[in-house]
Amino acid sequence: MLGKGILDGALVAEATVTAPLKTLNRHGLISGATGTGKTKTLQVLAEALSDASVPVLMMDIKGDLSGIAAPGIANDKINERAQHMGITYTPAGYPVELLSLSDEPGVRLRATVTEFGPVLLSKILGLNPTQESILSMLFKYCDDHQLPLLDLKDLQKTLQWAANEGKKELSDTYGNISAASVGTIMRKVIELQQQGADQFFGEKSFEVDDLMRIADDGRGIINIVRVTDLQDRPKLFSTFMLQLLSELYATLPEAGDLDQPKLVMFIDEAHLIFSDANEVLINQLETVIKLIRSKGVGIFFITQNPMDVAPAVLGQLGLKIQHALRAFTANDRKDIKLTAANYPDSDFYKTEDIITQLGIGEALVTLLDEKGIPTPLVATMMCPPKSRMDILTAQEIDALVSKSQLAGKYNQPVERESAYEMLTKKLEVAKEEAPAKQAAKKAAEPEEKNILETIVDNPIAKSMMRTAGNTIVRSLLGSLGLGGTSSRKKKSSWF
Ligand SMILES: Nc1ncnc2c1ncn2[C@@H]1O[C@H](COP(=O)(O)OP(=O)(O)OP(=O)(O)O)[C@@H](O)[C@H]1O
Ligand SMILES: [Mg+2]
Repeated sequence: MLGKGILDGALVAEATVTAPLKTLNRHGLISGATGTGKTKTLQVLAEALSDASVPVLMMDIKGDLSGIAAPGIANDKINERAQHMGITYTPAGYPVELLSLSDEPGVRLRATVTEFGPVLLSKILGLNPTQESILSMLFKYCDDHQLPLLDLKDLQKTLQWAANEGKKELSDTYGNISAASVGTIMRKVIELQQQGADQFFGEKSFEVDDLMRIADDGRGIINIVRVTDLQDRPKLFSTFMLQLLSELYATLPEAGDLDQPKLVMFIDEAHLIFSDANEVLINQLETVIKLIRSKGVGIFFITQNPMDVAPAVLGQLGLKIQHALRAFTANDRKDIKLTAANYPDSDFYKTEDIITQLGIGEALVTLLDEKGIPTPLVATMMCPPKSRMDILTAQEIDALVSKSQLAGKYNQPVERESAYEMLTKKLEVAKEEAPAKQAAKKAAEPEEKNILETIVDNPIAKSMMRTAGNTIVRSLLGSLGLGGTSSRKKKSSWF
């Protein structure tokens, strides 16, 4: 139950507005001006889903959702609303698991670079096809050589190695790779890193099955991802969202038509996903959103203006809850007209007018009925949330995290040897072996004198080597590209 219908400014007690559970995998939108009741509507929906044993996942960008774990307090306003609607107000707290992408209290959400895979990572980094194929090749190399790519440090080390010491080995097996392209990939990885992505990439990686838990009392667990610190880092946020959706898509079996969704996800401040995301990323998001419905996962976007959501995504949303919009400027009025035109026609309301007249905690609702057909709009007084309409205190949050079963599983730091350490070791070994190898090679082919050796034998170069040291000259010669095939072979064994 979402609430009760309103007609001509009066509540219609017998007009109960409900949403069929089986259509909630058809995605939805909650929109409206600031302070009009979007977050409370989200809370009401999440509570109803949990009561129906559907696990919930919500992105808490403003940090105002934690209160759902505690029972609400019946104040005058709530009592008045309940009385008006003819319902009894029964406060209830819900089973909540707090999750975090950073050091905020809660279960740590992480994913490894390998799990991301080259295709998704290329999309996030905005790579062109050439750069993407290089990345794919590096993933393959690491896979073939058991070099785990866990965090961004591993990826960076691998890129560095590919542009330098590993260039020869890679080109022998996979064909030439351009140092310029590797450089571009590296730059984009650093850009992602600057948004704090280091915190997200690594072990222990989160298993999405853990989002599907049901509490002992049969209610769905409400997973709240605290992403308050991602507000100004939209790229990281959309990276995380895309990875999560892809992972859910890959992990869950095809579900067909279910009586109720397997998981419903709420994304508050959804414009963050769509702003600053490149087109490829948005396309990818669209695809995943379209497909994930058949896995029984519903996604709800919460945002001030429906126009914040990419049009192709907007077209796929079944349940729409439109809270009031405010007409302060001519532009606002234009937006309102456009928004109203996007909703189904109604015999009872003039959408464009009523959108501006809705009170706080009231909304225009249209949804898919049991047959999947969109219903006409109904102005609705929304139910009050049963849980607290305020946040948990720091102590309450600590108490919640200390009870968490998942925190023990995911919050221990994992120390595992990965590509970074393994490549570093490989390079060290090569460096140690280099003089012996070189001597052996010299002994084996005494008459061969490659370009580099010719230059090194040159008296000027010799004097440079004496003054500047072997390494500098060698790397200088290397960077000047003064090396034939055999000299490059040497170069790789110097490290
Ligand atoms: N369904 C409701 N029942 C009772 N009170 C409500 C309801 N919806 C909204 N309110 C009241 O309105 C206030 C603002 O609601 P809410 O925080 O949901 O707005 P919002 O649209 O999410 O705002 P913002 O855009 O700033 O996040 C609440 O604190 C509450 O007092
Ligand atoms: Mg809000």
